[in-house]
Amino acid sequence: MPDAKVLLITGASSGIGAATARAAAGEGWNLVLAARSTDKLDALVREIGEDRAVAVACDVTDYDDQQRMADAAIERFGRIDAVFVNAGTGGKPGGFSGAPPESWRMLVDVNILGVAYTLRAVLEHVKAARGHVVITGSVAGRRVLAGSMYAATKWAVSAIGYGLREELRGTGVRVTLIEPGMVDTPFFDAPPSDALRPEDVARSVVYALTQPPGVDVHELTILPTPPVA
Ligand SMILES: NC(=O)c1ccc[n+]([C@@H]2O[C@H](COP(=O)([O-])OP(=O)(O)OC[C@H]3O[C@@H](n4cnc5c(N)ncnc54)[C@H](OP(=O)(O)O)[C@@H]3O)[C@@H](O)[C@H]2O)c1
Repeated sequence: MPDAKVLLITGASSGIGAATARAAAGEGWNLVLAARSTDKLDALVREIGEDRAVAVACDVTDYDDQQRMADAAIERFGRIDAVFVNAGTGGKPGGFSGAPPESWRMLVDVNILGVAYTLRAVLEHVKAARGHVVITGSVAGRRVLAGSMYAATKWAVSAIGYGLREELRGTGVRVTLIEPGMVDTPFFDAPPSDALRPEDVARSVVYALTQPPGVDVHELTILPTPPVA
């Protein structure tokens, strides 16, 4: 579809990002799919269609990679209408009393700096399109979780979303924070019970993206329904 809008997704190789790629493809978007696992991205591009999607290798902790990602999107489709800033990683147990300190740098690098780098690399294009920024935060970035550096990074993501919305006020760009509860994805070593499916979160992203231009969905918190007692 030559005139289709273009959605760039980070963390598109699995879980929420991959499910959102499939859902957005179903709504007619062209897709730029970014992550480190190019084998998985290539398989997803084949599934969606090489005329509709392109895979880009990108480590979100590397700003040069992020710039190359944005350049590749423009080279292929000529525009970026929306970005789903979704790449993220989990922490190690133990809290501030016992988690390995070296585990915290990667959390900060991926979940906070990675988000900021993506925004810095693509905002020029999203602004030109009067487009949409959707960011994966977490319910962990809205509530108190005991001893969780992961939650601290997601609180920072919430703050980035709120601050970005103010920065972009008057540009026509909309900003949506997606805040899932537990989702059954490879994020967890063992499948969690009573969790959402990645498709459940993907629908919320598509919901935000497909609202009319005058409707700005600020944040969506999506939790699994508590099990029937
Ligand atoms: N699962 C949950 O319960 C849950 C709940 C709330 C929020 N979230 C958030 O949802 C987002 C997606 O997670 P998910 O549950 O879908 O887990 P997932 O299946 O593990 O997906 C994580 C994605 O992030 C990418 N990624 C990780 N580190 C990266 C790096 N350095 N550079 C580029 N990409 C990187 C991974 O791709 P590569 O490894 O191929 O690079 C993968 O595509 C994350 O931001 C997570 O914090 C998850």
